[in-house]
Amino acid sequence: MSSSDPLLQPFQLRHLTLKNRFMSTAHEPAYSEDGLPKDRYRLYHVEKAKGGIALTVIGGSTVVAEDSPPPFGNLLAYKDEIVPWLRRLGEECHEHGTAVMIQLTHLGRRTNWNSADWLPVLAPSPVREPAHRAFPKEAEDWDLDRIVAAYAAAAERVQAAGLDGIEIEAYGHLLDQFWSPATNRRSDAYGGSLDNRLRFFFRVLDAVRDAVGSRYIVGVRMVADEDWDKGLSRREGVEIAHRLVATGKIDFLNVIRGHIETDAALVDVIPLHGMASAPHLEFAGEIRAATRFPVFHAARISDVATARHAIAEGRLDMVGMTRAHIADPHIGQKVAAGRERDIRPCVGATYCLDRIYEGHDALCIHNPATGREATMPHRIARAESAPRKIVVVGAGPAGLEAARVCAERGHEVVLFEAAAEAGGQVRLAARAPRRGELIGIVDWRVEQCEALGVDMRFNILAGPEDVLAESPAVVITATGGLPNTGFLDHGAELVVSSWDIMSGALKPGAQTLLFDDNGAHPGMQAAELIAKSGSELELVTPERFFAPEIGGLNHVPYARCFLKNAVRITINRRLMAVHREGNKLSATLGSDYSRDSDARLVDQIVVEHGTLPLDDLYFALKEGSRNHGEMDYQAVMASRPQQVVRNPKGRYAVFRIGDAVSSRNIHAAVYDALRLCKDL
Ligand SMILES: Cc1cc2nc3c(=O)[nH]c(=O)nc-3n(C[C@H](O)[C@H](O)[C@H](O)COP(=O)(O)O)c2cc1C
Ligand code: SF4
Repeated sequence: MSSSDPLLQPFQLRHLTLKNRFMSTAHEPAYSEDGLPKDRYRLYHVEKAKGGIALTVIGGSTVVAEDSPPPFGNLLAYKDEIVPWLRRLGEECHEHGTAVMIQLTHLGRRTNWNSADWLPVLAPSPVREPAHRAFPKEAEDWDLDRIVAAYAAAAERVQAAGLDGIEIEAYGHLLDQFWSPATNRRSDAYGGSLDNRLRFFFRVLDAVRDAVGSRYIVGVRMVADEDWDKGLSRREGVEIAHRLVATGKIDFLNVIRGHIETDAALVDVIPLHGMASAPHLEFAGEIRAATRFPVFHAARISDVATARHAIAEGRLDMVGMTRAHIADPHIGQKVAAGRERDIRPCVGATYCLDRIYEGHDALCIHNPATGREATMPHRIARAESAPRKIVVVGAGPAGLEAARVCAERGHEVVLFEAAAEAGGQVRLAARAPRRGELIGIVDWRVEQCEALGVDMRFNILAGPEDVLAESPAVVITATGGLPNTGFLDHGAELVVSSWDIMSGALKPGAQTLLFDDNGAHPGMQAAELIAKSGSELELVTPERFFAPEIGGLNHVPYARCFLKNAVRITINRRLMAVHREGNKLSATLGSDYSRDSDARLVDQIVVEHGTLPLDDLYFALKEGSRNHGEMDYQAVMASRPQQVVRNPKGRYAVFRIGDAVSSRNIHAAVYDALRLCKDL
């Protein structure tokens, strides 16, 4: 696309020229240190600036006061120390022509009391938020006065740091908790009528505007329809949008539809793969048409075509592609260069967001450089040394990433794969229609490898002789694993694996017991298939709750399916043994919490216990290799080349990565590959 591309047109937001229509909406990646946007945080945003984005809104849910404890690494705008860190982040993004704003909030009931300063959580009314589980106190007059002042002080800090603007958060947090009939049960001047419910918000807006003056950008990220029988109606939401615009004190609206008090509700606001693309775009467009005001919006606009449609058809002024930029921070630049096909796709896995709610940092399922900009490159540099011959065995996520990165380094790469197609376990997972988008992880890498001239050879179960015939300097075995069914005291030969179900090789039995001792997607995906097939399913786990490796948002479709199909879920029980009884199977269930056991009689027993490495090739090559397979972990972590020599006669080095080492996940596999291969 040429510069007539609607996405590449500048947008004038009062005095601020945004150079194109791409933005990253506020999100907290939990990269903060001491509540401050230090190096990791800054580099993450600067990468998007280098990649051509017009506007990045940093500090999702940056809190303005101590009684809004940070539940997921939020920035702390009540600290004066934040100013120099914000300034540096802003300046480095500005060098690339990218505007930077920050989202300010008080979380109200959407947080926990048992962190940071242990101050009591407050809300308009003492209504608990199920997701964060605090029982809030009803905010008193002196709380409200203090919080208004805190917003103003935070706004002053942001302005002093030279950022381009402020976004006030009003969806699921304190301010719109006042708006919503679901959370505001007050009978004083802040409850009841819409005028009353808006009163606190307008006090905050007035204070922020007074603090920053009229020539500073202030916008609101607002829920304009909670899509909830108990909540804020669309009629009231649209009315609020009109009233906000009418104040003349705001510069943009960033529109949200839905409520977020549970994971099940949140997933309809921030949809996963398998859910509709851009589900609230039309709604956002209606707000834009009704208010004739700058409208921003994000909700699963993950591809450039949909983003272009949003701008071309006048639905939005700025298009939020937030997870899309987590997957590929260089979208703007690639679009401008006519390289849309090179954009690493966001496959909607929502591993990123699920991680922050589990107390981790946001990581992309298939871009291991995101959030690791200090050590991992988004663009792979060519090797300074002479190109070498590298053989990669296995075209699952680890092998494909290894082949891609080695080829980007300029090496000559041969990739062997035993199957007819690339993908390994990702291809298996993507067989489920709901998770089909995962295949983007494979397809993008296959296309990149093709373009880079990787010699991909399918249907070859490569043995040592095939590998050595290539006279490689380096061999990378990424041969994956196979289901581990060998953990039972008795009856391993009687059970089938989750893969048998996922691959379609076996049909679910009429009565099935699925024992999941992994807690991740493979077991759940098999369970979903079994449940949907009409089988009577009991899901058994030794854990306190099912699928602990899957975060809250990914939990939702499984939970919905299991409820709908009356799946029996049994926690704290462990499958010990299986015996045949006539034409049935008897499962002996023990427990870590009891010496007793009992039995179930079913037609089929499916087990999920991770994988065991397929490592024959690695061990066959190990002895003759220069490094005897050793990977220098210190070198990996310090971004130094591998130089281990255990056998000076060896003509090649061999490494193994991904599940060929041990059963893990897609992110671990591609991270293994990137950090080894970027220095080869
Ligand atoms: C890791 C992560 C953290 C988020 N935190 C916030 C937040 O603090 N405040 C907010 O308004 N939205 C937050 N969001 C929501 C995003 O701003 C955005 O609305 C959402 O990801 C949907 O847009 P997308 O489909 O383009 O990713 C978060 C999203 C992610 C992925
Ligand atoms: S983890 Fe999934 S949803 Fe999140 S950015 Fe990566 S591909 Fe997109």
